[in-house]
Amino acid sequence: MTIIGARPQFIKAAVVSRAFAQKSNLREIIVHTGQHFDAQMSDVFFREMEIPAPSYNLRIDSLGHGAMTGRMMEKLEDILLKELPDYVLVYGDTNTTLAGALAARKNNLKLVHIEAGLRSFNMKMPEEINRIVTDRISDILFCPTQTAVDNLRKEGFDNFKCNIAQVGDVMYDAALYYSQKTGGPDGIMNRKKLAEGSFVLATIHRAENTDDLERLKNIIQILNEIAKEMMVVLPLHPRTRKILASQDFKIDFDVVDPVGYFDMLELLKNARLILTDSGGVQKEAYFFDKYCITLRDQTEWIELVNNQYNWIVGTDVKLALDVFHKIKNAKFNRSSALYGNGDAAIKIADYLADR
Ligand code: UD1
Ligand code: UDP
Repeated sequence: MTIIGARPQFIKAAVVSRAFAQKSNLREIIVHTGQHFDAQMSDVFFREMEIPAPSYNLRIDSLGHGAMTGRMMEKLEDILLKELPDYVLVYGDTNTTLAGALAARKNNLKLVHIEAGLRSFNMKMPEEINRIVTDRISDILFCPTQTAVDNLRKEGFDNFKCNIAQVGDVMYDAALYYSQKTGGPDGIMNRKKLAEGSFVLATIHRAENTDDLERLKNIIQILNEIAKEMMVVLPLHPRTRKILASQDFKIDFDVVDPVGYFDMLELLKNARLILTDSGGVQKEAYFFDKYCITLRDQTEWIELVNNQYNWIVGTDVKLALDVFHKIKNAKFNRSSALYGNGDAAIKIADYLADR
């Protein structure tokens, strides 16, 4: 049973579900918690990426951490006890991940975590709590990177009764597979008459930025400054839109609704560079040979920083603009593959089918 609910989880699950469908001895039941619910945050991914329709949708959204996680656990428990799956599969680090993990393990069901072992080492982030707890109670931990495996070893996971497998990153599989399907007259490049290399692609949604008005103000200032010399395209997460609607920040760049994955891939392919606080988008920048400026104080994807594909600037306006000027015309130098070979989902399906 796959438990998903937030945008990045639909994208990750799409490729894993495709791999499961090719195994005659695996049957997948998908549960959508409802955490993300706007058409452009949920339905568009199921449609474009041909993800099987969920068997259950809990419709739990827009609550605080306690209420959201608790209500999800309560409803998930009923479904888990009815279906009694051999494995419960969760992705990443959202409240959906934590609720699924706790509900599974408290009912003695085997738990599988995809994107295990990542750490920001910032315990103020809700995502850090969610991923640490989920990792600790998982039976099978699929890690995307060597860094993730090392993190688990340092935390003593060799002493725990669990299996750890480094398989690569399913987001790389998704980017490779679905980027063949993008573009054409209906694509965003054509619809918005965008020229290749002419714009900066930005996304902002992390709580640490949206819920701290000083940080949010700095981010808007960074983007306003960049917009003076290069077009900025910002597909805006509903969380950020709600907060901006209550403020009177002056915004001098192009804000659009969240885009579907195909449009996002087109924007990633054609942008000059990326500014983001997203986890997934940092890696996608690298997949498409784009430098990334990360508007956070740390990242889980440290190999991008160590290899100088990614710069962590927090919300320091001067630092962000200095980096922007340094890299805006720089040629991207790709080295070894950091996120596997694009076969992470197949490895996961093989691993589970052989058990
Ligand atoms: C969640 C994850 C975050 C992840 C992000 C991916 C947690 C704690 N956080 O953050 O790690 O990076 O998803 O995008 O789980 N909203 C809408 N429409 C939607 C979805 C959300 O209006 O379709 C609004 C909600 O009503 C709420 C706000 O956005 O007011 C935040 O949503 P929530 O799901 O709590 O967290 P995210 O910020 O999306
Ligand atoms: N994404 C998208 N449309 C958008 C913004 C992001 O399809 O308007 C995709 C993005 O390409 C990536 C995933 O959503 O695959 C990342 O999700 P998000 O940034 O919401 O969450 P995070 O990765 O930070 O948890």
